[in-house]
Formats: sequence, C-alpha cells, structure tokens
Amino acid sequence: MGEDSVAPAPGSLRKTCPMTGEVGVDVDVEWPLARRGDVVPEACTWLREHKPVARIRTFTGDPAWLVCTHELASRVLHDEAFSMSALAEPGGRLQYAPLFPASNRSSVKEMVGAGLRETVMQALSPHAVKEATGAFRRKAEALLDELTAEGPPADLRARFTQPYTASVMSTVLGLTEDHGRLLMDGFDISIMTVPRTFEGAQVNLEKCLARTRAALLAPDAVDAPGLLGGLARFRTENGTTPELDGEITLMINNLFVAGGLSTAAFLLLSLLQLATHREQAEWLRAHPEAMEPAVEELLRYSLAIGDGLPRIAVRDTELGGQAIEEGDLVLVLVEGANYDPAVFPDPHELDLTRNAKDHLTFGAGRHYCSATYLARTHASVALSAVLERMPALRLAIPPEEINWRTGWIKRTPERLPVLW
Ligand code: HEM
Repeated sequence: MGEDSVAPAPGSLRKTCPMTGEVGVDVDVEWPLARRGDVVPEACTWLREHKPVARIRTFTGDPAWLVCTHELASRVLHDEAFSMSALAEPGGRLQYAPLFPASNRSSVKEMVGAGLRETVMQALSPHAVKEATGAFRRKAEALLDELTAEGPPADLRARFTQPYTASVMSTVLGLTEDHGRLLMDGFDISIMTVPRTFEGAQVNLEKCLARTRAALLAPDAVDAPGLLGGLARFRTENGTTPELDGEITLMINNLFVAGGLSTAAFLLLSLLQLATHREQAEWLRAHPEAMEPAVEELLRYSLAIGDGLPRIAVRDTELGGQAIEEGDLVLVLVEGANYDPAVFPDPHELDLTRNAKDHLTFGAGRHYCSATYLARTHASVALSAVLERMPALRLAIPPEEINWRTGWIKRTPERLPVLW
C-alpha cells in the first residue's frame, strides 16, 4: 500500500451541500476523504502539513473541523473541552443523520450507571476473554475447515470474518449463534453515514431489539453464559422495571454494534494486508510469537474507521492555532494520527516488527475503547488460524477491482475473494 501521489489543490474547494444542494460552500477539503480502505486518502498528508485543523462539511452539510495530526488528535481526545455526550444534545451539529432516536444513542459508558458497570466490565475483561478463547479458536477452525474442504477461491468476508465475528460476539455477550447472526446481518445494513434517516434503519433496530429483549426476558436467561446471563441475574436480583429492561436490551445491542462492526472490519482489512504483503505474512507465519506486536501494527495501519471520531466543543477554545467556538463539531481523523511521521517513521510501510503502541485506533482518554483485550484476541486468534490453514493467502481478484462500500460507518470491502 502507498499513498496516492496527487495532493489536493491547496486552499478552499467548492462543494455541493448534500442537504440543500447548495453549491459553493467553502471547505478546505471534500468529505469523506475516501471510502477505500487500502490506500491512505490522498488529502491526509497534505492536510497534516498545511491545514491540521481543516474546514469540512459533513454528510448532513454541517460545518466541522477535521483534525489530522497525532498531537492535536490526542489533545482533542483527552481535553474535556471536547465532549462526546454533547453529541446527543438536540439541535447540535451532526456528522451524519441520527439513525436512531436520541434515547437509543447514549454512550454505553453512560448507560452502565445503573449498577450494571461491573457486570459489563467483567464480561469484557481479559479473564472472561481468556476463558472464551478456546471457543473463538474452534469457530475459526470450523469455518476454515469448510473453506479448505471446498477449495479456493472463497470470499473471506461472507465465509469467515462475518460469521466468525458474530460467533465471538455471541459467546462474549451470551447470545445464541442464531441471535448473533441476526444482529450481525441486521446491523450490516443499517449503520450508515447518510444525510437523512431512512426507513430500514428503524425497522431493523426494532427487529434486533425485540430479539434481544426476548432473550433477556426468557425464564432460562439467568442460566445463560456471558453477559446475558449476568444481566438477567442482575435484573432478577435487583428488582426490574420496563425502563431497566429497555436499557439493558439497548446496551447489549449497542455493545454488539461497537464490538462486532469494529472487530469484523479490522480483521477483514488485516487479512487484506496479509494477502497483499505476502513476505510479511510469511514472516509472521514463521514467527507466531510476534503476533502481539504484529496486531498492534495492523491496528495502526488499519483504515477501517471511516469518518473520524466526533466531539462537540463545550466552550470556546483554540486548537492548532485555530479558534474553535462552543458548539463546533470536531472530527478526529484516526489515520491522520496513525500515519503521522512525527510519531511513526516511514508510516506508509507496514512493518509488523514496529513498536506501534501509540496508535489511536482505540481512541484515547475518557472514551478509550472498553474492550481492547477482546478486540486484540478476536484478531490474533483468527489471523493465526488463517496463516496456518491458508499458507499461500493471496487476492483472487486484481486489487483495483475490490468493491469498497459507500455510506457505511466503516471502510470495508463488500467481499474479499482470496486463493490460498
Ligand atoms: C478492532 C476492534 C475495535 C476498534 C478498532 C475499536 C475502536 C474504538 C474507538 C476508536 C473507541 C473510541 C470512540 C471515540 O473516542 O469516539 C472505542 C470505544 C469503545 N469501544 Fe471499541 N473498538 C473495537 C472493539 C470493541 C469491542 C469488541 C467492544 C465491545 C464488545 C468495544 C466497545 C467499546 C465501548 C463500550 C467504547 C466506549 C464508548 C464510549 O465511551 O461511549 N469496542 N472503540
């Protein structure tokens, strides 16, 4: 992978506002920067060097600041002047259309206030994940058994990363495989970055919530493994209300979204990297003990987070010499930070031996990802299994023919056909 060589024209571009159709909105760069997940967006380096806090218009046409260096990205994520919870306030600037009612959108961390935090954190803890790792491995092996029995080529998204991730998330959350598949398929079509709400998102949300609610309220839910069992016992022991049941149901689904979509997209892009950097894949196969730093480098290198981490300024402040006003929307461009040569020398080189721990792929500060051990284990188990079982992994189609999904919260190929 390299960076596209063409830099965008310096200064303001003219853009059509997706909401009003108005032409001539002043921005520094078009948004989104790119949907492809195999090439760093061409504007990224230019922005970092010339306009580290740049003006864009989001999918809804709202103005926003795009932050493109590691230093400024870290500052936004750590500074209380930039709030995540303020994003849910009515009338504020938006990154894309709210797909769900505001009551369904609060941060998971805020929802676990009702004494549920301990139960959730226990389910996502390294201890619980270690106990479940054997099940992750068995699922990966079973899927690869099927693929290798049929023979190449095969689409790794449909046949491996999606079902494997649904199974891992089901195991951790305590859902049946069928329930996990329903949520995985459902959210795969609804978490879109669109200018307007659309009917399918709401229909899908209701379907997924009804399924999770039924599982939570089933009489035998208290015996379920993983998070579902813990939450079912919590509601039985603490006396429940319809509101609490609603919150718990929503939290399980939100965790499935936060976890399932992120891990599946990261794993798929990592497999793409190994399929296209075959000498590095060969090296990793010969050095399985190096999986941990290799996953860290793959996290740094990943372009899966498509649209920047959003915050609202809750007071007037300054960022990289730019005045930011209360109410302004600020987007942290993760690849801007992760490909910053000030922190990662030769950032466009995939180097599985690099110390990449300062990447911002899990965010930073108050909202740092709650399940990094699970995320890393999900990937390393799957990557080890693929390296062992598919020793000559390579793309089955020309890389330029990969079909990158548009309008979705992650950068992801629609399919990843491979040979091995
Ligand atoms: C490779 C996989 C993953 C990636 C790249 C990832 C990335 C992130 C990022 C960037 C954030 C911070 C968001 C922000 O600051 O705006 C975050 C937060 C979070 N993630 Fe992850 N994540 C992954 C896996 C998971 C998994 C498996 C779960 C749970 C099952 C999870 C649950 C959460 C939660 C609960 C938060 C906190 C949200 C909040 O404070 O509101 N993530 N993650």
